[in-house]
Amino acid sequence: MIAKRLALRGDLLDFSAAPSLTDTSMKTVRFRPDHWLLIDGGRIVGAQPGSQLPDPSWWREDHSGRLIMPGFIDTHVHSPQLDVIASYGTELLDWLNTYTFPAESRYAIAAAARYGAQLFVECLLEHGTTSAVVFPTVHKASVDALFEVALDRNMRLITGKVLMDRHAPPELRDDVEGAERECVELIERWHGRGRLAYAVTPRFAPTSSDAQLAMAGGLLSVAPDLYMQTHVAENRDEVRWVAELFPDARSYLDVYRRFGLLGPRAVLAHGIWLDGDDRALLAECGAQIAHSPTSNLFLGSGLLDWRRLEAAGARVSIATDVGGGTSLSMLRTLAEAYKVQALQGSRLTAWKALYTATRGAARALGLEHEIGSLDIGSTADIAVWNYAASPLARHRDALARSLHERLFAFMTLGDERNLESVLVAGTPHVRAASV
Ligand code: GUN
Ligand code: FE
Repeated sequence: MIAKRLALRGDLLDFSAAPSLTDTSMKTVRFRPDHWLLIDGGRIVGAQPGSQLPDPSWWREDHSGRLIMPGFIDTHVHSPQLDVIASYGTELLDWLNTYTFPAESRYAIAAAARYGAQLFVECLLEHGTTSAVVFPTVHKASVDALFEVALDRNMRLITGKVLMDRHAPPELRDDVEGAERECVELIERWHGRGRLAYAVTPRFAPTSSDAQLAMAGGLLSVAPDLYMQTHVAENRDEVRWVAELFPDARSYLDVYRRFGLLGPRAVLAHGIWLDGDDRALLAECGAQIAHSPTSNLFLGSGLLDWRRLEAAGARVSIATDVGGGTSLSMLRTLAEAYKVQALQGSRLTAWKALYTATRGAARALGLEHEIGSLDIGSTADIAVWNYAASPLARHRDALARSLHERLFAFMTLGDERNLESVLVAGTPHVRAASV
């Protein structure tokens, strides 16, 4: 039986506030080596030094010498695209037609959607990701399946039916009235249930008509606590196409503004090809860019200028964007984010990277009270990591001269093989036998 009160011993790491992009000082870092983290009723209720043993009413798990952090938050990932991860040879628009749309078409079969949802959530947890903002497919069954699996595990998950009424294969197209009806049904069934929230999900401007984008804006205007997720300014051909399709819009981002889709609960993947006015608009409306470095490199999309976004006051979170992205591991994703900045002469710190994948994402999503930190009162979504999981990584780890150096090597060399255990709302995740 799982004890109601749980105490985990290890090195606690989280953040009290946002570090700047390139400052390696410890100002906002909360590192509590060898502490017990106390969890009661699925929430964090305290922490105390390792020498202060919790009494026997606590179930004690000793992870001494391991790193205990809030579970990662992946702010942009596609559940059906586990089937197309690592597909060779294309840029975005070709990649969608050649690999992605055919894979998503298979989710018309509800059993395929259910199997895919199960596998996807299992894989997230196996990578130390306890919360995610997810694109399923246009099929209602794919949304039900994801929400059902997440509810079963009491996970914080945000998703919604993909909207696409043009420029997609017929079997993946919906229409405005049918899509609206399905959205309303899904919102009523799932939004606010357990730890679930609904995101109005136009795939991207090219695959929705004006009428459909207006419908999406209408849903948001009557229920401002809904999220909105889409893609923006990822690829140069895509940007040109949007300019042709929406000649009256000032920019790609402006298309979404015109239809009432931007606000503090909007999550926009990529945002590589933005200008100064776009960045100012993001800062003004509080929408976030879900930076997806492995995807941007793999699809040859471009390099995100995080410095300029930060300088403009725009929010940035970090995402895997599987299957354009090449790993569900947020550690690998952070390592690639570092390289994307390095190519532009900037040096992302481990602090900023790990903050962005935890508290930063939580704050951008308006969920800072619930996830992203080890604050008392937060839900106990926790990952326990081995600092080093290979002979080379152990060698490097032993040579680290500062905590930042150690965590930077962990972030650069680590992946899901470093994960020792994961808890969702205080309950340990047990690997499914079928996966
Ligand atoms: N733009 C529209 N759809 C997609 C998608 O599935 N993946 C990525 N990376 N970009 C998109
Ligand atoms: Fe994407």
